[in-house]
Amino acid sequence: MHTVRLTKRLEFSAAHRYCNPAWSEERNRAVFGRHNNPHGHNYLLEVTVSGAIDPVTGMVINLYDLKQVLEQMLVEFDHKSLNEDTPYFKDRIPTTENFAVVLWDKIEEQLRGARLVALRLFEEEDLSVDYEGRRIGKSSEVYLTRRYRFAAAHRLHTDALSEEENYRVFGKCNNPNGHGHN
Ligand code: NI
Repeated sequence: MHTVRLTKRLEFSAAHRYCNPAWSEERNRAVFGRHNNPHGHNYLLEVTVSGAIDPVTGMVINLYDLKQVLEQMLVEFDHKSLNEDTPYFKDRIPTTENFAVVLWDKIEEQLRGARLVALRLFEEEDLSVDYEGRRIGKSSEVYLTRRYRFAAAHRLHTDALSEEENYRVFGKCNNPNGHGHN
């Protein structure tokens, strides 16, 4: 039997605010900054399932069934306030980390015929959380990825080679005035 992984992507929107009700307004503002204000995100969810390829259908899971399960699950969150309209964030803050774990539990509960193996939730293009269902004691082990952008210039050149050889090896990256990258 061949086991393969299959990933389905879905987009949805939701609003939230970061707030610890046990803290004063000042402390919440100091810790969470503008995330303390209600605001919205366009989320991108990637759900990866694994299973054996069914010899009759050639599928790991019927994609139509998977889409139905995921779209039905997201009705509870899409165009909603995570704090006010859902019951999951009364005692935890709706960070990307906590939200990914909530979505994992909802999907795992409803998925039939394949195993949920990975979930990636983007809150924005440069911020995402990966969760694979692992727990450390009562906590969930998640991976947070933040992408930072910067620019720098360089030149590919070695004094061990002649000018002609440098140009042959490094081409336009050998430009004596350098070139930049983002
Ligand atoms: Ni936010």
